Amino acid sequence: MNYNIAVIPGDGIGPEIVEQAIQVLDTTGKKFGFELNYTKLLMGGASIDVYGIPLTDETIEKAKASDAVLMGSIGGDARTSPWYRLEPSKRPEAGLLKLRKSLNLFANLRPAYLYRELKDACPLRDEIIGDGFDMMIMRELTGGLYFGERKTVEEKGVKKAIDTLTYDENEIRRIAKRGFDIAMKRRKKVTSVDKANVLDSSRLWRSVVEEVAKDYPEVTLEHMLVDNCAMQLVRDPKQFDVILTENMFGDILSDEASMVTGSIGMLSSASLNETGFGLYEPSHGSAPDIAGMDIANPIATILSAAMMLRFSLNLDEAADAIEAAVSQVLKDGYRTGDIMSEGCTKVGCKEMGRLIAERV
Ligand code: IPM
Ligand code: MG
Repeated sequence: MNYNIAVIPGDGIGPEIVEQAIQVLDTTGKKFGFELNYTKLLMGGASIDVYGIPLTDETIEKAKASDAVLMGSIGGDARTSPWYRLEPSKRPEAGLLKLRKSLNLFANLRPAYLYRELKDACPLRDEIIGDGFDMMIMRELTGGLYFGERKTVEEKGVKKAIDTLTYDENEIRRIAKRGFDIAMKRRKKVTSVDKANVLDSSRLWRSVVEEVAKDYPEVTLEHMLVDNCAMQLVRDPKQFDVILTENMFGDILSDEASMVTGSIGMLSSASLNETGFGLYEPSHGSAPDIAGMDIANPIATILSAAMMLRFSLNLDEAADAIEAAVSQVLKDGYRTGDIMSEGCTKVGCKEMGRLIAERV
């Protein structure tokens, strides 16, 4: 089988981590009998440098025409990069938001899983870690504050900024269904996170989620306020299976969840539309401070590539093989700097990619 993959290396460490993911994908393809054709596309700062804008219509069309999109990371150092002297709608991040919206990628899956081998990197105490934890954050990605009306006005000499948080019941229903569907394949528990003690959008969220839950009698549903959830994530992360939440809360909680695993460099993500088409990217940023130094951790991108095989190309066995190869490399004691611990062998980005491909 042949598949067309749109590849967006992006900025900072993006190109080097994507290169390693491609190497692993190609090795996996040879073993499992599929071939991927890659079309490289520009987005973020890399696109600003060439076209003056972070995302062109042509890039959107090419991404749409592909079977899946694999992305590195976008953005630069906001204090020093000229990209951040542009108006907000022309900065690198605006490209990513526009792409998510244009491709209707409303369901963002962010697994936060503690590898046994990486227990030492976890900042939590042993008694909290126990046998480890394994949760999936299901973040709504095309609504809420990110896409509501936004403006800055001046009234009687006083500047005022307005961001609007809107959700309609259809937007909530489709993401809630995704959350319950994935819970059915896991430990059958959904924690829906909101701020229903203050926000109308959260009260609607809660009632629609309850309605959807009726179709999933096997799944246990609980509601949790977002401030409490932030606290529970460090107090007892084992309690979570699927966390279902809106865009902004999901942005914040997923960074927190990734850090309790000790290693933001390990966490993959998938952003999907209704049909299974998706964009796959690591949960971390572009780390411009270490770009080009061959010390970035490519594992999150490699695991995102595995998610791509699983969710968009239905190549489950191949995805399993990549995930197993990552576990094996960690068992064999190889670490990039961010997850390094005593007694292990420190390797760079390229070598980590090579070791994983070898184990596939
Ligand atoms: C993420 C990022 C983005 C977001 C930024 C880069 C716009 O933080 O994917 O979590 O807020 O969604
Ligand atoms: Mg974020």
